Amino acid sequence: MQITMIGSGYVGLVSGACFSEFGHTVVCVDKDPAKIEALEAGRMPIYEPGLDALVARNVEAGRLRFTTDLPSAVPGSDAVFIAVGTPSRRGDGHADLTYVFAAAREVADVLQGYALVVTKSTVPVGTGTRVREIVGSRLKEIGSDARFDVASNPEFLREGSAIDDFMRPNRVVVGAETEEARTVMHRLYRPLSLRETPMLVTSIETAELIKYAANAFLATKITFINEMADLCEQAGADVQDLARGIGLDQRIGPKFLHPGPGYGGSCFPKDTRALLATADQYRVKLGIVGAAATANEQRKHAMAERIVAACGGSVVGKTVAVLGLTFKPNTDDMRESPSLDIIPALQRAGATIRAYDPQGMAEAARLLNDVTFCGDAYDAMDGADAVAIVTEWNQFRALDLERAKGLLRTPVMVDLRNIYRPEELDGSGFTYHSIGRGHLK
Ligand SMILES: NC(=O)c1ccc[n+]([C@@H]2O[C@H](COP(=O)([O-])OP(=O)(O)OC[C@H]3O[C@@H](n4cnc5c(N)ncnc54)[C@H](O)[C@@H]3O)[C@@H](O)[C@H]2O)c1
Repeated sequence: MQITMIGSGYVGLVSGACFSEFGHTVVCVDKDPAKIEALEAGRMPIYEPGLDALVARNVEAGRLRFTTDLPSAVPGSDAVFIAVGTPSRRGDGHADLTYVFAAAREVADVLQGYALVVTKSTVPVGTGTRVREIVGSRLKEIGSDARFDVASNPEFLREGSAIDDFMRPNRVVVGAETEEARTVMHRLYRPLSLRETPMLVTSIETAELIKYAANAFLATKITFINEMADLCEQAGADVQDLARGIGLDQRIGPKFLHPGPGYGGSCFPKDTRALLATADQYRVKLGIVGAAATANEQRKHAMAERIVAACGGSVVGKTVAVLGLTFKPNTDDMRESPSLDIIPALQRAGATIRAYDPQGMAEAARLLNDVTFCGDAYDAMDGADAVAIVTEWNQFRALDLERAKGLLRTPVMVDLRNIYRPEELDGSGFTYHSIGRGHLK
């Protein structure tokens, strides 16, 4: 089948490359010429493990190409996916649908024959109807006899394991309302149905809401374990054991029970805000999601205070080494990363920051001021008064503690991801602080 993917970011590029791996012919479109130029030259505009090889293989096979020219891509497509950004609108938390609607208009201008217009971006309930209106009225305006349906196909891939998530999803959610639309979606995902991946076909509205409900639930689960961690600290309990104790209950499950500095990234913060805005619009109270979002914001600031406390109550004139800047490992995505709150809070408190991240430093340099970006973890610790682990990149899991101690002015470690066990640090000379394990040392 022929696919046009509008938007070649984290979702569009991975989805487009994976669809081409399924055997479909895919054109990935982006309005950012630098992104397309890089892709045409074989350079990935994002860091995602395995993506370069996947793209190279399918470009080579002639199933995948890149362009800024939408009119050259859409005609002849069986499906046109919209995978553009839906950031938070300033002020009210609603999803900004400007890019989605602009893409819908652009598609209508060049549509020929029949195509299914599929929204893959995360969009509020009701967006599919708006997209149908936009495309329909534009076709009428220009006197086009092209036919189309709309569908919703929210994406659940996670950055860092995006290819595997797309290729082996827990489920595919499709909102479609005509037989023709359902047939196109089934054909597109046929390789997954051979692997018995459940495809859940719902109304468009339900599919749109499933995506937000899933993210809000996961964000709530993270917030829940973070609050339990706070309680463990005060009550002398261990949150790691607690998480295991509840996670072994199959009704709860072990995933997303890792305490840390609060959720961040390109999805959970904006999607919880957008869901709350939608609920407001329908005059429905989503108290649990609201509480999770508020607690998460407060948590990021509390983490900076925790680092200050570990430095003896003041960081004035002190240097803190920050290991990890991205919101999670195996991505270069800095969007709403906790480090973007923690570092400025430490700076306001008087600290100087030396930071290292394996993939996020180029983007971090655009978002943070007065940070010294270092060549590796040891370089960051050189002359610092404390080290804070903010993102759990694998390379931070087995630091040479002797070497680290020799570099730090005072051997203080604040492990916001619990990647070490307190007993591993026993006798190392480090003062070790972690999340949710007994009393705050
Ligand atoms: N990043 C994730 O992990 C993830 C996971 C699931 C769902 N989503 C959702 O997928 C959507 C896209 O997210 P992303 O992280 O890939 O965003 P992104 O910012 O990485 O990519 C969006 C791309 O769309 C391009 N674009 C915008 N308007 C365009 C137009 N009219 N024509 C062509 N290109 C256009 C931009 O230049 C950009 O490259 C969002 O709604 C997001 O919530 C993201």
